[in-house]
Amino acid sequence: MSTVAAAAAKRLEGKTIVITGASSGIGRSCAFEFARTAPRDLRLVLTARRADRLREIADQIRAEVGDGVRVLPLELDVSDPDQVRGFVDRLPEEFRAVDVLVNNAGLVKGVARAPEIAEADMNIMFQTNVTGLINMTQAILPIFKARPDGGAGDIINIGSIAGREPYAGGSIYCATKAAVRAFTDALRKELIDTRIRVMEIDPGQVETEFSIVRYYGDKAKADAVYAGCDPLTPDDIAEVVVFVASRRQNVVVADTLVFPSHQAGAGVIHRRQT
Ligand SMILES: NC(=O)c1ccc[n+]([C@@H]2O[C@H](COP(=O)([O-])OP(=O)(O)OC[C@H]3O[C@@H](n4cnc5c(N)ncnc54)[C@H](OP(=O)(O)O)[C@@H]3O)[C@@H](O)[C@H]2O)c1
Repeated sequence: MSTVAAAAAKRLEGKTIVITGASSGIGRSCAFEFARTAPRDLRLVLTARRADRLREIADQIRAEVGDGVRVLPLELDVSDPDQVRGFVDRLPEEFRAVDVLVNNAGLVKGVARAPEIAEADMNIMFQTNVTGLINMTQAILPIFKARPDGGAGDIINIGSIAGREPYAGGSIYCATKAAVRAFTDALRKELIDTRIRVMEIDPGQVETEFSIVRYYGDKAKADAVYAGCDPLTPDDIAEVVVFVASRRQNVVVADTLVFPSHQAGAGVIHRRQT
C-alpha cells in the first residue's frame, strides 16, 4: 500500500460516515470508495429514497470488503423535513457518533426556461438540493459540536459547476447549487472556532443517472448529453470525496472544481465529431 493510501486508511479508521443519495451515481461510488479505503474499521450509513437499492449496495460492500465495514442502509427522503428531523433518533447507538456527512443527494428536473418552468420541478429541486442539504447539516451538527475544541467532524457538500456558471435551461438547478455554495461558505465562517471542516466539491460533467432524471426517464435524451464526450465517472468524484475526508485534521480542502479534460466551463464542452 502506498504511503498516501496507508495514511488515508489510518485517518478514516473508526469513523462513521453518512452519505445522502447513496443509491446511485456519485453517492454510491463514495460508499464503495470509503469502504475500500478503510476496510478494517468503518461504519457507513447509506441513505436515499430507494431502500431496495441501498440494501443491494450494502450487500455488495460486505461481500467485497468483509465485516470490518458495518453498513446501515436507511431510507430517507431529504426533501421531507420531518424525516430529516427524525433521522438521528433512528440511528442505532453504534452509528450515532457521526464523523463525516456527505451531502450528495440532489437532482435536476427539465430544461425549461422561464416562464415555462413547472412549479413542481422548481419545488423538488429547491427542497432536495437546498433545504434538504441544510436540514441534514443542521440535524448532524449538534453531534459534531458536542466534541472537544468547539467540535469536530466533516461536512462535504456536493455542489456543481452549475453553481458557479448559470446557464440557460438550468436556471433553477443553477440557483440551487449557487445556494449550496453560499451556505457552505457562510457555514465555514460560522464554525471558524471549531475543528469542524466544511468542504465543497463541484463536479463538471459526470455520467450517472443525473441526466435520466433531468429528462424524466428518457434514456435517449440522457445519452445525447454525453455524445462525443468522455465524461467523468462517479468514481472520479468519489476519489476526491475520500481524499478530502482523509487529510490530516488541520487540512481543509475548502473548495474543489473537477472537470473531465474536454470541459472548461458549464457550457464549454468540446465534442468529438462523429
Ligand atoms: N452528474 C453530474 O454531471 C453532476 C455534476 C455536478 C454535480 N452533480 C451533483 O452530484 C450529486 C449526485 O448526483 P449524481 O450525478 O450521482 O446523480 P444520480 O445518479 O441521479 O444520483 C442522485 C442521488 O440522489 C438521491 N436523491 C434524489 N432525491 C433525493 C431525496 N429527496 N432524498 C434522498 N435522496 C435523494 C437519489 O436517490 P433516490 O432516487 O433513491 O432517492 C440518488 O441516489 C447531486 O447533488 C448532483 O446535483 C452531478
